[in-house]
Amino acid sequence: MNKLSEKINNLKEEKNAVILAHYYVDGSVQEIADYVGDSYYLAKIAKSCKADTIVFCGVEFMGESAKILNPQKKVLMPDGSADCPMAHMATKEKVLEMKEKHDDLAVVCYINSSARLKTVSDVCVTSANALKIVNALPNKNIFFIPDKNLGSFVAENTDKNIILNDGFCPIHNDITKEEVMAVKNAHKGVKVLIHPECPKDVLALADYIGSTSGIIDYAEKCDDDEFIIVTETGVLYELQEKCPGKKFWFTEPMPVCADMKKITLQKVCDCLENDLNEVVVDSETERKALIPLNRMLELAK
Ligand code: 13P
Ligand code: SF4
Repeated sequence: MNKLSEKINNLKEEKNAVILAHYYVDGSVQEIADYVGDSYYLAKIAKSCKADTIVFCGVEFMGESAKILNPQKKVLMPDGSADCPMAHMATKEKVLEMKEKHDDLAVVCYINSSARLKTVSDVCVTSANALKIVNALPNKNIFFIPDKNLGSFVAENTDKNIILNDGFCPIHNDITKEEVMAVKNAHKGVKVLIHPECPKDVLALADYIGSTSGIIDYAEKCDDDEFIIVTETGVLYELQEKCPGKKFWFTEPMPVCADMKKITLQKVCDCLENDLNEVVVDSETERKALIPLNRMLELAK
């Protein structure tokens, strides 16, 4: 263990802190985290964890959700500017307008959204549970925010009437079917595992569609020894940990989320040492945004 990791471990103990990290952060950060996972897993951990302080190695909506789910805890972000652009790609005004316009409507909010958007939503979802939760809702009409791609994937697989919003993840939405075909042609017969934030014509090339942990589980359980991975490159760290000896091919240019990559070991250490970038959510937002988050945890069980 290097000096920085050692210092982080000492600070963690001293401050009774726990480190949560998403699969898209750099491998060196995943290595020192207590819990690494997809958005759904991390939300469950954030709710149940007993430490005094949570250091969330991820983007703003993740830290906000952790704070809302566990308001007594101090939640720190290693980089206060790490944000998900998609989290802001819907408006509260549009949601209220849709509620006026449609009877029997549920607003389903991908967890990759600001706390402000969650306050006007009926239930949150992640890519790991979106379909299950949409199908479990009593409503016929679903306004799915902010991601048009995950929304369209759900629409393809349910009988509900899904109304799409026009948000997207700039990293996944940029991946093209030509890029996927290029890797497929270079590695014939290799299975393609794709994240549902990708566009519909890219998803059409998938052997498996799922969240980051879904992709990792699939690669681990399947007997094949190589896979084409169509999502952000951070998953490679856990893929190599879980599947030693297997090969993983990515689309070119490699999909990299610049915001997730803002998290460094040094910043983890600094934020723990000096209580930097504490997440603050006002009590009204906290109260209202907790409802859809808790409903997700209930319905996804
Ligand atoms: P999951 O890890 O839940 O699949 O989410 C992907 C993502 O984009 C997180 O920002
Ligand atoms: Fe947001 Fe996309 Fe980055 Fe995930 S990968 S945090 S959805 S920009």
